Amino acid sequence: MTHAGRGDDRHGLMDRREWLRLGATGAAALGLPACAARDGDEPSAADIPPLRTPAGTGDADWDDVRAHFLVEPGKAYLNNASIGMPPREVVDAVAAGYRAIAELPARGRSDLSARIAEHVVPGLADLFSVETDELTLTRNASEALHLQSIGVTLSPGDEVLITSQEHPAGRRPWEFRQVREGIRVNEVFIPSPLPPEGEILSRFGDAITPRTRAVAFCHVTRGGHLYPVEAICGLARERGLVSLVDGAQAVGQFSVDLTSLGCDAYSVSLHKWMLAPAGTGFLFVRRDARDRIRTAFAPDATPEQPQFGPPGTAAFPVRAAIGTAVDFVATLGLEAVEARCRFLSDHLKSRLTEMSGTSGVTLLSGARDRSAPGSTIFEKEGLDAVAAVAAIEASISSHIDEHQRDGHNAIRVSTHIYNTTEQVDRFVDALARTTG
Ligand SMILES: Cc1ncc(COP(=O)(O)O)c(C=O)c1O
Repeated sequence: MTHAGRGDDRHGLMDRREWLRLGATGAAALGLPACAARDGDEPSAADIPPLRTPAGTGDADWDDVRAHFLVEPGKAYLNNASIGMPPREVVDAVAAGYRAIAELPARGRSDLSARIAEHVVPGLADLFSVETDELTLTRNASEALHLQSIGVTLSPGDEVLITSQEHPAGRRPWEFRQVREGIRVNEVFIPSPLPPEGEILSRFGDAITPRTRAVAFCHVTRGGHLYPVEAICGLARERGLVSLVDGAQAVGQFSVDLTSLGCDAYSVSLHKWMLAPAGTGFLFVRRDARDRIRTAFAPDATPEQPQFGPPGTAAFPVRAAIGTAVDFVATLGLEAVEARCRFLSDHLKSRLTEMSGTSGVTLLSGARDRSAPGSTIFEKEGLDAVAAVAAIEASISSHIDEHQRDGHNAIRVSTHIYNTTEQVDRFVDALARTTG
């Protein structure tokens, strides 16, 4: 797959590798001073080990990578599924972008726009195996989900099938259309813990009616359950339905090939597992689905010029810094990221399983083929999840999340590459002590 303009430095901007190399002083990429350090103890960019793919999955293998993150000393951040922690290179790139705007706005905008067109979008297209013109940058997954949902051509009385585990961002655009346009939203109940693939498919199959026109579902649910996305898209294709996927919790934890998934549209958060700055995401619309999914904005759009992007000025310093996050993740390699995330969540799962006999802990996350690498959910008998999250944060400064949904009173722990087994152990020990 080739991308016009890739690696080309016509606009005087540095290429993607160079931006990453200088990213620790991020501003250097635009010839600017780095943003101020938080405190005197923070290592300077020169002290940060160069980023490379770690040799193994253990904590020591990832020490050098961990040095690229700015987490507050003494805190353990185990809530990456909520919002991710961008590395210092990304933080510095955002600051550099805003500085460029502050120094000469029109030039800053033009340089950053060129970087987005020539480096950010091609970088994302490579990472997710699509063509550049199939991607539209958005502010987050919610915006992309809204655009993909309102873009589907539907008539009053047409039906859309969603699942019981959808995030409000995946549900509300359809409810909006139900109220405004008289379409009907049907919901297929998908149990948690997740049943085997065959049962999920037959639940979908049974819920499709002659009026169903589209199916919309998560790749990875908020609780970290991994839906059999290729198989569901295959079923949708067989039945002549548009398939729309919420990938907010999927990208950045493992490799995703959007072309071979077979979906018509896919919506992404880049500020969770992809470690990009807050306020970033994208919408993918497969080229040959442009007859069924259309822009909500441009009267002159055509399948060749689909114009999915919301008009107007975007936060282009933030968007330009997506390229730094893409380089960061691509340098590590998504296979290595997945293996490291699995290593940590396997450790957590085995500690929780040990506790199940004595402390009334029930693991709700399934086997590897049914759970995402980084998110784990479980319940503890007699424990209110919301109260427990606050108590654990207060006692050991570990940030986790509650998962009081899908019929559960559960806790979600979402570990990323920079967490450690020591942090997981500290959390499990605190959980054992927490009651009520
Ligand atoms: C499954 C799922 N979809 C969509 C979203 C919304 O993502 P964003 O905040 O990027 O709009 C989230 C956020 O947690 C999510 O978990």
